[in-house]
Amino acid sequence: QTIALIGAPLEEGSGRRGAAMGPTALRIAGIDSTLAELGHAIVDEGDLKPLPARDLASHPRANHLQVVAGFTRALDAAVHEAARAGRFPLILGGDHALSMGSVSGMARHAKDVGKPLFVLWLDAHADFNSPETSPSGNMHGMPVAFFCGKAEFAPILAADRPLVDPKNVFQVGIRSVDERERVEIAEHGVNVYDMRAVDETGIAGIMREIIDTVRQKGGLLHVSLDVDFLDPEIAPGVGTTVPGGATFREAHLIMEMLCDSGLVASLDLVELNPFLDDRGKSARILVELTASLFGRRVLDRPTRSA
Ligand code: ARG
Ligand code: MN
Ligand code: MN
Ligand code: MN
Repeated sequence: QTIALIGAPLEEGSGRRGAAMGPTALRIAGIDSTLAELGHAIVDEGDLKPLPARDLASHPRANHLQVVAGFTRALDAAVHEAARAGRFPLILGGDHALSMGSVSGMARHAKDVGKPLFVLWLDAHADFNSPETSPSGNMHGMPVAFFCGKAEFAPILAADRPLVDPKNVFQVGIRSVDERERVEIAEHGVNVYDMRAVDETGIAGIMREIIDTVRQKGGLLHVSLDVDFLDPEIAPGVGTTVPGGATFREAHLIMEMLCDSGLVASLDLVELNPFLDDRGKSARILVELTASLFGRRVLDRPTRSA
């Protein structure tokens, strides 16, 4: 299967500069050649330009709404089209607000092929705020509520677009949730495996549960990987670090199990902020994790000792 690399240099959702450099850093870290070496065909679609969104009034509690909406519209279209053409959409972010568009595009594709869409949200945060609940107004804290239809504050996409059932959303690695967000995720039935669950159950058990559910329901799985899912020690290149994140080994095991499942249809790599990174460390780990998702195995790795 051909992988479509779709750059989304969005940073206005995050409340600081730098994430717009994410797509470039991922390319410099070798995302293209690494996947090609694993035997995949790659089409780099370059970086998206936001579509016009001047029809939307600015919103006092949704910062930079027009820019975020412009990228959401562009991603919704580009991701839907790539998936329709039989390509695997791999989105190079950009801050997490871009998932409003990538998930919406995949939700339309899933509807076209008559399958339910599931979302695996790997993140320190639940990103289930709306302009009404958000303490910051930063839209990267809102995408999950948006694609579940629980944050309908502006006509960013068609009102009749397919939504994701919150019960089809699995959040793993969560360890920073705002007060009102906590109530929202519980009320809507989002499946949350917080860091305590990871520690108590272990990542393998959690992943088996998620993969079994998606398989039983005949679903497509979209994976959204926020850099802050990882422990800041291994991935410092992100604006919203939270201590106590996933380890290198946990993250790779997730990707390996997802690879074996054959259920993953699309991937977001988000929140990489190269301006805050330590000599490309976080960009490189994202590329390595993506390689695990696309079939790299420890025993296949070229080793120096012969
Ligand atoms: N919950 C906080 C907020 O709404 C932080 C969100 C962080 N989100 C992210 N994608 N890094 O502002
Ligand atoms: Mn996030
Ligand atoms: Mn369609
Ligand atoms: Mn986060």
